[in-house]
Amino acid sequence: MQMPNLKEAKVRTQNTPRTINYNIKEDYKSLGKNKTYFIKTYGCQMNEHDTENIKAILEQMSFRESPIMENADLILLNTCAIRENAHNKVFGMIGRIKHLKESKPNIIVGMCGCMVQEEIIAEEIKNKYKWLDIVFGTHNINELPRILSQSLKENKLALEVYSIEGDIIENMPVKRESKYKAWVNIMYGCDKFCTYCIVPYTRGKQRSRTKENIIKEINELKKSGYKEITLLGQNVNAYGKDLGVGYDMSDLLSEAAKTGIERVRFITSHPWDFTDSMIEIIKKYPNVMPYIHLPLQSGSNRILKLMGRRYTKESYLELFNKIKEIPNVAITTDIIVGFPGETEEDFNDTLEVVKACKYDSAFTFIFSPREGTPAAKMIDNTPLEIKEKRLYILNNLINKYAREANENYLNKIVPVLLENISEKNSEMLMGYTDTMKLVNVKAPKDKLGQIVNVKINEVKTWSMDGEIIDEI
Ligand code: 5AD
Ligand code: SF4
Repeated sequence: MQMPNLKEAKVRTQNTPRTINYNIKEDYKSLGKNKTYFIKTYGCQMNEHDTENIKAILEQMSFRESPIMENADLILLNTCAIRENAHNKVFGMIGRIKHLKESKPNIIVGMCGCMVQEEIIAEEIKNKYKWLDIVFGTHNINELPRILSQSLKENKLALEVYSIEGDIIENMPVKRESKYKAWVNIMYGCDKFCTYCIVPYTRGKQRSRTKENIIKEINELKKSGYKEITLLGQNVNAYGKDLGVGYDMSDLLSEAAKTGIERVRFITSHPWDFTDSMIEIIKKYPNVMPYIHLPLQSGSNRILKLMGRRYTKESYLELFNKIKEIPNVAITTDIIVGFPGETEEDFNDTLEVVKACKYDSAFTFIFSPREGTPAAKMIDNTPLEIKEKRLYILNNLINKYAREANENYLNKIVPVLLENISEKNSEMLMGYTDTMKLVNVKAPKDKLGQIVNVKINEVKTWSMDGEIIDEI
């Protein structure tokens, strides 16, 4: 058993991370013969992409995917630690699975992802959920075949969670969710240590993949018909800083654009590392999409300082206005209300920034204390009802601007990558504009996977409807 340790998780050394080449032993390749798996994923895009790797590893072990949890022989929950409500959702689900296991004792049940990297959670599992079969963390997805085989052999919980700075694992197999758009990891971990955030503890030190491996992956995706890639990392703008070779995010972005793949996106940006040359590259290459997610978190300088965000309201607005000069750009954000000690005045500062930025949309959250982070120890005496009221006021404002931003699209013709059948109407397809607006389109199914010109006929707060004009 290998338990996580928060103290060790926050250590940062100058050591260069190891690059490990994934491979799977022959012995493990038939372990899942005639068995099926089901994975439920919580949280961010990084977790979604990890699930794509886990699925492919399981398939190398001869497991096949089951669309229904109740029918699966192996059930895995890939968990998120960012806020408390994720915890409740996961343990609610574990309760359901326990019932299932009582009637089908041979099923294999596992947990992985960020939540199990938390000391208290791993302890809870060890003490109260011994009936689980496998638990592994974010650092050892590549070891899944061995861990699973060990649990099956010994018929007891195999828990292996490492609190290390982390390695870079290359050549992991991947079963991608989409045939048209793909995630490409460019870096792992985060060294920013914003005081509220658990990510630097659950995902380790910032470590960038080499540009050669990234560009190779993009070229391969392009060759297999992918139209869109999203460069993925906790703080992509800091790409390359840890490599120390003077090659940064703007260099990578331009090289990614030069591969000629039709769409290049990137998430998530931290305002601190956003350079002017990145803005120039986005303006220069039409295949770098004019869509930026620029987390604000708070509009109060006092709170930003307590959060350890390293920018002020003024410098954020200056950057925002520079980005806004990119033609046709859409900008979205993340905001936390109710950070410890946030006053009405601080909250009003946040509203002022929102009014100045008129975001295309935003993810908004109530502060959730995460054990082990500095903010969890700060005195927080704002009642929950006040925090909820602030969230409500903020959301109303965000929705108003989201609707206004969408209204600008009415009767316009915009490029949309058609990626799926529409959820609201099976006769329609859905996709996203270059600016990341969700559009439901009247279009035949053979247009799936194409970027088409769509005339917008109707706009709502969170989506739009349109029809194809012609292909581009
Ligand atoms: N409480 C509330 N929201 C949080 N986020 C990160 N940590 C916390 C927390 N402890 C939000 C931030 C971040 C987004 C991914 O989640 O806004 O940008
Ligand atoms: Fe968390 Fe801050 Fe790193 Fe984002 S930049 S992952 S909010 S510590």
